[in-house]
Amino acid sequence: MEIVIQPTYEDMSRLAAQQIATLVRNKPSCVLGLATGSTPIGVYQELIRMHRDEGLDFSKVTTFNLDEYYGLAATHPQSYSYFMNEELFSHINIPAEQIHVPSGVATDIDAFCSWYEGEILKAGGIDLQLVGIGRDGHIAFNEPGSSLQSRTRMKTLTRETVEDNARFFSDVSEVPRYAITMGVGTIMDAREIVMVANGKNKASVIVEALEGPVTSQVTASVLQMHPHVVCYLEKQAASKLTNREYYQWVFENKPGTEVPAPAPKTTRKKKNRR
Ligand code: F6R
Repeated sequence: MEIVIQPTYEDMSRLAAQQIATLVRNKPSCVLGLATGSTPIGVYQELIRMHRDEGLDFSKVTTFNLDEYYGLAATHPQSYSYFMNEELFSHINIPAEQIHVPSGVATDIDAFCSWYEGEILKAGGIDLQLVGIGRDGHIAFNEPGSSLQSRTRMKTLTRETVEDNARFFSDVSEVPRYAITMGVGTIMDAREIVMVANGKNKASVIVEALEGPVTSQVTASVLQMHPHVVCYLEKQAASKLTNREYYQWVFENKPGTEVPAPAPKTTRKKKNRR
């Protein structure tokens, strides 16, 4: 796991967007897993800028979103489908048929969830999954106690998540209590995972997730078991990490950027005269 601490939200967002853009350039038909919430907005703004100013091409990209509130249609302004259109899709050249967001109005939920998993497989699996983290340690809507092998399904949101997300609604009573969410296992199948976290209110959970034990009580902690995870943290979110100086040191001494060690002096080997 690589932990990259940045001074500002904008710096954090730019680096995460650069990692996504590098994949899109190297593999134009890549499959991206996307997240909603406040944190990834800066990443999406930077991707939109790269599309506009640098011609970053999304025409062959396929996307799968992590989750959707159950009970909200895609046309509802607080639905995650709506959010993604507003914050990203309507600003880039991705064809609509390559975009997947779980349905918030599926009647046969089990059938829908199996179909969603099947579509991910048919697309060749997720190359890079972007995730945020909830204050209760969730990734997607895998609330505490979710199986670390879970697949796409319906989950009941915790009171904390409902209250945190009330800021997007006119009243807390309007926040849906359920969501259709990719499982922890679905996320762990992605070939690369990028986590973004911002702000002081994430500092405690970031310590639990990145330096604490792997536990279903903090589902983000399972990322410690994935071979290719980069966590981009704004400095306040990273402020309680015990080893933050080491993470900084690793970032500053990335292989390929190091100053070459001086060549060893060539000294004649003494002959063994025995
Ligand atoms: C959103 C999602 C959630 C959020 C998390 C953090 O698709 O899956 O796990 O990433 O709740 O939300 P923010 O970024 O609003 O703090």
